[in-house]
Amino acid sequence: MLPFRRALRCLCAPLHHCGSCFYVCGEICCEVVKNPAFLVVFIILCIHSTILISYFTFANTAKPKPGPTKPNPLDAIMALPEYNVFLKVANDTSSESVHIGSEDFKYPLLVDMVQLVSRVRHNLSVNVAPINRHNFQFPINQADLCKPYKLTGRSQQKQQQQQQPAIVLVIKSALSHFDQRQLIRETWGNFDCWPTAGSASSSSSSSSSSSSSSSVNKVRRVFMVGQPKSADPKSSEYAEKLAKEVAKYGDIVQADFVDHYFNNTLKMMSSFSWMIAHCQGARFAFFLDDDYVVNPLNLVRFADAIPPESYAGTMAGFVWRNAAPVRRAPKRNPQSRWLISYREYPWPMYPAYVSAGAFLVSMPVIKDFTIAMEYTRYLRFDDVFLGILMHKLRIVPLHAERIHSFSPVYPDSPSFPGLIASHGYARKADKVRAAWSEILNRTGAENRLPLECMLSM
Ligand SMILES: *[C@@H]1O[C@H](CO)[C@@H](O)[C@H](O)[C@H]1NC(C)=O
Ligand SMILES: *[C@@H]1O[C@H](CO)[C@@H](O)[C@H](O)[C@H]1NC(C)=O
Ligand SMILES: *[C@@H]1O[C@H](CO)[C@@H](O)[C@H](O)[C@H]1NC(C)=O
Ligand SMILES: *[C@@H]1O[C@H](CO)[C@@H](O)[C@H](O)[C@H]1NC(C)=O
Repeated sequence: MLPFRRALRCLCAPLHHCGSCFYVCGEICCEVVKNPAFLVVFIILCIHSTILISYFTFANTAKPKPGPTKPNPLDAIMALPEYNVFLKVANDTSSESVHIGSEDFKYPLLVDMVQLVSRVRHNLSVNVAPINRHNFQFPINQADLCKPYKLTGRSQQKQQQQQQPAIVLVIKSALSHFDQRQLIRETWGNFDCWPTAGSASSSSSSSSSSSSSSSVNKVRRVFMVGQPKSADPKSSEYAEKLAKEVAKYGDIVQADFVDHYFNNTLKMMSSFSWMIAHCQGARFAFFLDDDYVVNPLNLVRFADAIPPESYAGTMAGFVWRNAAPVRRAPKRNPQSRWLISYREYPWPMYPAYVSAGAFLVSMPVIKDFTIAMEYTRYLRFDDVFLGILMHKLRIVPLHAERIHSFSPVYPDSPSFPGLIASHGYARKADKVRAAWSEILNRTGAENRLPLECMLSM
């Protein structure tokens, strides 16, 4: 039964891809996939509609209609007040060309985002008000995180260098994931085990080495969390534990929104704002969920290999193309977290987006996102929201096939040696440790590990 359903799903997928006219058909199709009892009805309907469609097609070609009146099914939704308000086009020079990419994709605000961002960056006036501005506050902050390396413990012998971090690991973590964070600190998040990153960026580097144990490590780690619901009975317990964690490790930033899956876009937006406020000198940020495992050497090599001419537009991760919004909750899980209404998002497709679980983004792109996000209607799916920003900014996402955000990769997989990051390690402390010792073993064989790393094992 299962392969048959899968085949049917494949047959159905193109219906989604044909755009809005076939959309209803696609919806029915999904029902059929779930309930094979509908199948016969569906086939009969399909035969009937094929006959009808061909009849009307021939009837239309016989006597072509005058005038190009082809009703757009999106029009009804676009006329809803919440869209109407936002579709007003900015009334100034920054809005000369509003048709970017597909003309059907008029996600508010309808402005030329490339120009708008450029004007904001040049401190020129823009004649349109932001619709999604949040002045994020950070009740727990790490304002010095990106300052030149802090001297602690064994690092004290190191010579302090005036270097900005090459990569900031921005780990999106749920407030209650205390154990997960500790596990990360002890494994791939331990920066004693990171090679020196960003040899391409340092102008002074004579020999671009990545293993000199006397060099200052240029990676930083920060966990981004939100706040507990005030009604949450555990909120005071969390606050206490978090305060201890902050005092001990100094690697946590808390922003002022309620930590919840549906606030992931707020978490993303606050992380960008925080990066701009405190880490502008960093070259890259590597955004990650806390259920990932990372191979530091592979990530650093990947970042170093990005050519200077594409650096300013770099947004790399696992790219999803032609993804369709989920309109019907699966029966088994009516609270599907992916469900989205037509009112929230009326189009039949999402723009290409990068899985938010793990992606590498350069500072110029973070700057553009931070401006553009304030002029873009809020969408609670962080990765789709970023996809919309990329579409508006005409940034083409780079598919990094070694960032595994779909099928997890474990040490027994042939893909493991090349892995940059893989998800699938939630609540699997043993698997994380096994993967990490495998990574260290490979790194050690290939690229002498820093002494501090070996001492910390
Ligand atoms: C656009 O700007 C012009 C001149 O600045 C003004 O007269 C006009 O009312 C504005 N239109 C809208 C729709 O704001
Ligand atoms: C930007 O413009 C505002 C007012 O137009 C001015 O107060 C501010 O100093 C300018 N900033 C820069 C960096 O030029
Ligand atoms: C998201 O955060 C806002 C602001 O803190 C809060 O009002 C809202 O309830 C949160 N959403 C969820 C689903 O918790
Ligand atoms: C590390 O790799 C070597 C071979 O390169 C192997 O003999 C050894 O068992 C590995 N150690 C661990 C802990 O996996």
